[in-house]
Amino acid sequence: MRILVCGGAGFIGSAFVHQRVAAGDDVRVLDALTYAGREENLDGLDVDLVIGRIEDPGAVEQAAADVEAIVNFAAETHVDRSILDAQAFVTTNAVGTFTLLEEARRRGVRYVQVSTDEVYGSIDDGAFTEQHPLEPSSPYSASKAGADLMVLAAHHTYGQDVVIARGSNCYGPRQFPEKLIPIMVLNAIHGGPLPVYGDGQQVRTWLHVDDFASGIHAVLEHGAAGQAYNVGGAKEKVNLDVVSRIVDLTDASPSQVKHVEDRLGHDRRYALDSSKLRQLAGWAPRVDFDEGGLESTVHWYRDHEWWWRPLVETAEYRAYYRRVYDRDPDF
Ligand code: TYD
Repeated sequence: MRILVCGGAGFIGSAFVHQRVAAGDDVRVLDALTYAGREENLDGLDVDLVIGRIEDPGAVEQAAADVEAIVNFAAETHVDRSILDAQAFVTTNAVGTFTLLEEARRRGVRYVQVSTDEVYGSIDDGAFTEQHPLEPSSPYSASKAGADLMVLAAHHTYGQDVVIARGSNCYGPRQFPEKLIPIMVLNAIHGGPLPVYGDGQQVRTWLHVDDFASGIHAVLEHGAAGQAYNVGGAKEKVNLDVVSRIVDLTDASPSQVKHVEDRLGHDRRYALDSSKLRQLAGWAPRVDFDEGGLESTVHWYRDHEWWWRPLVETAEYRAYYRRVYDRDPDF
């Protein structure tokens, strides 16, 4: 299959590209190579890379020539950045998705939107099914929910062949050091403080990036047009427990754990019911967070300083870190 993977040089997108190339698909990547997208993430792969933005119709038209499906990973994804400035979230996530949908409609090809559990908002007990109304609470999740609604409207209005995959929190190799796990791992290894927001009792469900990638492929192959599918992890964890486990795995000191000011509007708990996709395609996560998933991720960051070092030495990264954590990074 010839697939256009938008955002294929990012964290989740590149995991998907690695899987699809290994499976024999013909992959073209459209990526703006912003701070979180990197050519290095595609090292060793035989893929065409078109550098451009998904909200640029010219770049999209060029990249989409002859493809049979478009899968969109391209997004601004970090809640803390959206709290500081949401402009890029609206442009990339909402306008970019619209631009890709228009191209998919012109070409008559299947469109897969990669989305998130955060579009449903926070839930105290139980888990969200796909029927739950969208109640996003951060500028980030609002931009993703807006994009999901545009995707569903394209089906309702024009009969477009679209599907949505909503994932839970991902972890694994090549995640930019701004999300919980890589931030904690790098600080733990380098003796820095581990900044836990608020009481640290928030709950996230962790999904290995390779499992999300295989779930997205199941949605691409088997999903019914106009439908959304939850792709949830199996391990629900309190943030403080994740941080303690990282302390153990890195031989850091528990005294490095520091409670800091809470995130504005911090969602308490996310949880997905993924039975719709399990029943449709037999998909299930394979990597266990406690049995090797987190540990192999810690090892990956230890062994790949060449990958993360250039990222954390940019002026942009250091300025970002200072704004969020009120200090310089220790790594
Ligand atoms: P994050 O990785 O940003 O994902 P999301 O907000 O999309 O779930 O954060 C995961 C959880 O970890 C969330 O409850 C916020 C918390 N967190 C911290 O406590 N400290 C941090 O430095 C970061 C980045 C996140």
